[in-house]
Amino acid sequence: MTQLTRLPQWQALQAERHALAAFHLRTAFAADPGRYARFERTLAAGDARLVLDLSKHRIEQRTLELLLELAIARDLRARIDAMFAGERINTTEQRAVLHVALRDLSNRPVRVDGRDVKPDVAAVRERLLDVAERVRDGRWRGHTGAPITDVVNLGIGGSDLGPQMMTLALAPYHDGPRVAFVSNVDPEHLRGTLARLDPKSTLFVVASKTFTTLETMTNARAARAWLVQGLGDPAATARHFVALSTNAAEVAAFGIAPESMFPFWDWVGGRYSLWSSIGMPIALAVGRARFMQMLAGAHAMDEHFRTAEFSANLPVLLGLLGIWYVNFWGAASFSIAPYAQHLARFAAHLQQLDMESNGKRVTLESEIVDYATGPVIWGEPGTNGQHAYFQLLQQGPALIPVDFIVAAESPHADDMQHRILVANCFAQAATLAIGKTADEASAEMLAAGKGELEARRLAHHREFPGNRPSSTLLVQRFDPFTMGLLTALYEHKVFVQGALWGINSFDQWGVELGKQIATSLGAALSDTKVPVDAAAAGIVGAWRAMRGVV
Ligand code: F6P
Repeated sequence: MTQLTRLPQWQALQAERHALAAFHLRTAFAADPGRYARFERTLAAGDARLVLDLSKHRIEQRTLELLLELAIARDLRARIDAMFAGERINTTEQRAVLHVALRDLSNRPVRVDGRDVKPDVAAVRERLLDVAERVRDGRWRGHTGAPITDVVNLGIGGSDLGPQMMTLALAPYHDGPRVAFVSNVDPEHLRGTLARLDPKSTLFVVASKTFTTLETMTNARAARAWLVQGLGDPAATARHFVALSTNAAEVAAFGIAPESMFPFWDWVGGRYSLWSSIGMPIALAVGRARFMQMLAGAHAMDEHFRTAEFSANLPVLLGLLGIWYVNFWGAASFSIAPYAQHLARFAAHLQQLDMESNGKRVTLESEIVDYATGPVIWGEPGTNGQHAYFQLLQQGPALIPVDFIVAAESPHADDMQHRILVANCFAQAATLAIGKTADEASAEMLAAGKGELEARRLAHHREFPGNRPSSTLLVQRFDPFTMGLLTALYEHKVFVQGALWGINSFDQWGVELGKQIATSLGAALSDTKVPVDAAAAGIVGAWRAMRGVV
């Protein structure tokens, strides 16, 4: 057994799980009209307000207390303090983890190796926002003197998902150039984007922490060729390319000038980087003021996470509830259901944030875990999910907790439709919890005129088991500050889970092997003399046959 599963607090939670074997949310709500009030948590920051409804979870007060005792037993407080203090908690890469420094607008120093990093952060951010404003107001001109109308972000993973999610989420606030995101090495992705663009007024943002990622650099070279061909001058790249990276040498080698490079640091993980220079597309789309509001929202969540009592600490509670279902109820996945079309990429961002952080099986002490760790994260905006997979959530055999995310206000006046959206969100959470018994289903069918036999035949098919847990996060509106608050909430939820599982949430060795094999396989596709391993040999041979490679 590992250190974690030997803990008495862990074993107490196993006992609690068995004590709640007969728990049902329908009964719990019927027995306690004050249930919602007992399990609601709120966070007020600036004029933003976040309400977290935890009442529809398979918990009683005792459950929360036991989860909090596990957090204390795993020294969560010390781990949180270590991150904020700039300690090298990413031990396999010997790096600090300081995305919180990117949005800490206070005058409190944040030191890495004894040096306060915040002046550097502020200087780069100022330069980046200045360029963004110059592009937005037309002072930045392309090689032919045309203003920029279109921006194309070339990046993948954290150099794409976070900035893309946020840029889309803030669509109601866009008042700058159009921003497109190209990430896949599939040539159709770049080709399809460039087909509608004019090289005279297009700015490419090459976003890559390492500036060596094959997909991004392949797309960057193809974009440069398109631009040079379109403008007829290799010197044109100077006014049409900027780089977001930690690798100055590779940026210079690509031909982007230092003044068009916006660096960041190795203590910024890719999936935590939208607050850094990687967030440039966001600033280009919505401008300086709103970018700063987004940072302020994330900082507000950082301060809450750093200082709030665990029993009222939203990231701690969300993290602990995730552990409750993953480790004590066997949940293998969580569904993210933002009831907002502009949050269409929120689940995709959380997939990398959560699964690339906590998809680990080896602990910081190099033990192989004997417990589950990071779950599968998936989801689509509501109400669309209701017409795709809510059948499985409502009547499937698996336990799949859901995070419902919804705003009280629509960004525009069409309030009637927004109320329909909100009603559907609340209805799904309630029906997942309460369900409908076979007797109730049968009575409804009889009342609707179906015969006794038919009603009995269909009763179990139309029964809803209920007792399906969910959190509902209700915000006033998805403005920049609130989007910062919400995104940071999930960053810290992931931190809490990784800390309790005792894994390193900040490396990603699992992405290396595929890259290595892809490189050698690329050569083998066109050269039959290149050896191919047994698992790929057959399909490579089939490909060669299709393409006439002999
Ligand atoms: O998926 C592996 C990964 O290294 C991510 O962690 C990162 O966000 C992505 O690839 C892109 O890396 P880079 O920003 O260095 O191009």
